[in-house]
Amino acid sequence: MEKFYITTPIYYPSGRFHIGTAYTTILADTIARYKKQRGYETRFLTGLDEHGQKIGEVAAKLEKSPQEYVDGMAEQAKALWKKLGIENDDFIRTTEERHTKVVEKIFDYFMEKGDIYKGEYEGNYCVPCETYFTNTQLVDGKCPDCGREVKLMREEAYFFNMKKYTDRLLKYYEENPNFIQPESRKNELLNNFIKPGLEDLCVTRTTFDWGIKVLKDPKHVVYVWLDALTNYITALGYMSEDDSNFKKFWPADLQIVGKDIIRFHGIYWPIFLMALDLPLPKEIYSHGFIMMKDGKMSKSKGNVIYPETLMDRYGNDAFKYFLLREFPYGQDTVFSPEGFVERFNYDLCNDLGNLLNRSIAMVNKYNGGIIPEYKGHVTEFDKDLEEFTLEQIDKYEKNMDKYVVNNALTELWQIITRTNKYIDETAPWVLAKEEKKEELDSVMYHLAENLRKIAILIYPFMKETSLNMFNQLGIINEENRGYDTLREYDKNLNNVKVIEKGIPLFQRLNMEEEVQYIRDEMSKSTSKK
Ligand code: MSP
Repeated sequence: MEKFYITTPIYYPSGRFHIGTAYTTILADTIARYKKQRGYETRFLTGLDEHGQKIGEVAAKLEKSPQEYVDGMAEQAKALWKKLGIENDDFIRTTEERHTKVVEKIFDYFMEKGDIYKGEYEGNYCVPCETYFTNTQLVDGKCPDCGREVKLMREEAYFFNMKKYTDRLLKYYEENPNFIQPESRKNELLNNFIKPGLEDLCVTRTTFDWGIKVLKDPKHVVYVWLDALTNYITALGYMSEDDSNFKKFWPADLQIVGKDIIRFHGIYWPIFLMALDLPLPKEIYSHGFIMMKDGKMSKSKGNVIYPETLMDRYGNDAFKYFLLREFPYGQDTVFSPEGFVERFNYDLCNDLGNLLNRSIAMVNKYNGGIIPEYKGHVTEFDKDLEEFTLEQIDKYEKNMDKYVVNNALTELWQIITRTNKYIDETAPWVLAKEEKKEELDSVMYHLAENLRKIAILIYPFMKETSLNMFNQLGIINEENRGYDTLREYDKNLNNVKVIEKGIPLFQRLNMEEEVQYIRDEMSKSTSKK
């Protein structure tokens, strides 16, 4: 069986998880579910990045030990993902022994190999980002990532010899043009960082102690990026007694990260792997940011949106659909409450929900609830619908295989729109009146069959909705729900009886009220200083 290993970044548990972290997790979950559906043995990893100065500070403020604090946050993260229907196979925490022990070994190995050496570091340090920046990297003297003040700091530190690997990395980029996606991000890394020559990376700190201690020099703590990045292999049991998952799943097929951390994943991570003589992930995909009309989300602006606001009121699936449909591949997107309500009302209620409801009502009215048998193309409309649908399925699949999920959804929605149009074209109420039984049966069949296909295609994105559709259509058997039956038009609806009275998938929203609701919730995020 072919395997597929997919990861999200491990999130900092320094505050409540917002819609940005939810997006990465939902995207990875969707791709993982698609791969499972396609028959891959899939492993999906997410987790938390629990070390570092910032976490130590947040815990101290709450009068908790860092461990106590991160334990609580890990419970919160797990509960959130569970509630959202995320089906991760593992959850790694960097404070777990399965991780810390291996990081110690890796560090030791790099020292022995001479890839890590002791020196002194002086630089502009951004505490929240836990990153040093050179003078040229600063923007108006401030952190280029978060825009906050930096501190000039100096410390004895260990360095990783990045320069040694620069040429190999460059060659790897050339030989594997799809390694970093999208292309524009790859070019940024090449032109801004790799080609001008890499700086060696400082991999320890003595300025804080909430982290993994260097075995042979314990006043040093392993700096977060070496600690954090290795999670993707420690979680598989690399360098531990049972490394069967590592052997099976490494290298990763897809690692998803936000654009702010592509630098670490596109440069340091491959170099660490080269230094360990391990193969590199097949693809690293960097998505953009969810922005607000007035710029970045921030508590001080009171414009942060938390996943619970949308999922608790509108359901998991509407929330997921919105994010996956709105986010263009590799670029930023602007969140707007109006946009959310529009997508909900038009795409989910009108297009999808009505198609299911109308179809079920008609199968009940015209055929006693039984989906008629397939009799080929009774009319040109049937033929057109079939051809169009099969073409769209190909387009959907091409996009899914390249992980361009927003386009896959657009292609899928065209099937929904086209099937709605088919109802208008064929006017089943007229066929019934004129007693054109054969044509009417064929329309009922094609509606049910297209809905079956839509339920299969929607499954990776909106599992609850997909299962709900199958159930309402009366498609009980697993074998009639499988992706492998997607292109068939003849044999999956034998003797199927639809539900007697359809249950609406989504209830139409009042635009004004809901926009107000979302805005009110967002303004509650204002930090009280
Ligand atoms: N702990 C590191 C990652 C280590 S991976 C070895 C980290 N954590 S984070 O919690 O700050 O960010 C996690 C992810 O959330 C990143 O991929 C980041 O890009 C993403 N997002 C944070 N804000 C976001 C938006 N507003 N929109 C979309 N994604 C955003 O970095």
